[in-house]
Amino acid sequence: MDKKLFTRITGLGMCVPPKILTNADLERMVDTSDEWITQRTGIKERHLVEGQTLSDLVTVASREALQGAGLKGEDLDLIIVSTTTPDMQFPSTSCLVQKELAAKKAACFDLAAACTGFIYGLSIANQFITSGTYKNILLIGGEVLSSITDWQDRSTCVLFGDGAGAAILQPTTEERGVISTYLAADGNFADFLKVSAGGSRQPATVETVRQGLHFLKMRGNETFKVAVRAMGEAAKQALASVGLSYKDVDCMIPHQANIRIIKAAAKNLGLDKDKVFVNIEKYGNMSSASSAVALYEAVQQGKIKQGSLVVMTAFGSGFTSGACVIRW
Ligand code: COA
Repeated sequence: MDKKLFTRITGLGMCVPPKILTNADLERMVDTSDEWITQRTGIKERHLVEGQTLSDLVTVASREALQGAGLKGEDLDLIIVSTTTPDMQFPSTSCLVQKELAAKKAACFDLAAACTGFIYGLSIANQFITSGTYKNILLIGGEVLSSITDWQDRSTCVLFGDGAGAAILQPTTEERGVISTYLAADGNFADFLKVSAGGSRQPATVETVRQGLHFLKMRGNETFKVAVRAMGEAAKQALASVGLSYKDVDCMIPHQANIRIIKAAAKNLGLDKDKVFVNIEKYGNMSSASSAVALYEAVQQGKIKQGSLVVMTAFGSGFTSGACVIRW
């Protein structure tokens, strides 16, 4: 009988555009202050595109991940791009990236699960790998949130940034890698965080643009409360399903939306703050890119080592939530 397969992350990559927008820059754009943004969110600066497209960022992150895994584009079986800000409505950004990487035999699709997208993608890739369907999968979380940000709305424009993080997923017969995933959603909260116009329900018109309906709108305070609960709950569920608890965790990679959400979710879970990875001060919330970039940096900084038990947990528009347990 064939041995059971597990999914390992064998390469990671990231890309943020060079342009940095600091809190001091935002003070000159809207009625806000470095003090308010830092205290309420933990964010000091964020990277924004200046001429680059989402597929540019994704391609750079993907090349680094491929190199880390010792693969070429032509080796890929599947490319998944998680994004809410694709280059265009169609074709999918994953197809545009496939062309850049010359990944001729890869199947391609984009995935829409907002900030939880990288975790949803890990779960999907895990199914393809453990079933023996595919051997080499490229998963990217990438966003150009600056394209849907209202730069006159101080309640949202201070929060978001652009970037991409990529991972190569491959099978192993060792009992390690992805050991559990948990996905959830609650569409009752669909109105709390959304872009109203530009889809088929409300196609873009001069009037929708005039009303700013092509921008992201958020009910921040209510979103905050659900995020704390959902991120903690998702991590608990993913751990419990394989008989583990917070006590077994070496490193938590939470979605980087707000330092206060991260701290409260870690507290709910019972985790010490030195086990929680935070890089929100440099990038802000990059939606589905946040988890991928945080994982990349945690590995680079030696916070995740071979054998570490990692729990990734995220929350996003939908509302979606999810978590993933990885034995590194
Ligand atoms: N600068 C200064 N003041 C600001 C501000 C800014 N950038 N943005 C909002 N304010 C003001 C508000 O107008 C309000 O003023 P008022 O009391 O005079 O009405 C006050 O600050 C408090 O606003 P509130 O929205 O209650 O603040 P908050 O503590 O909830 O923080 C967020 C706002 C957006 C930072 C917070 O709600 C949040 O992080 N929400 C979740 C975001 C999130 O996770 N989104 C993505 C999910 S993936």
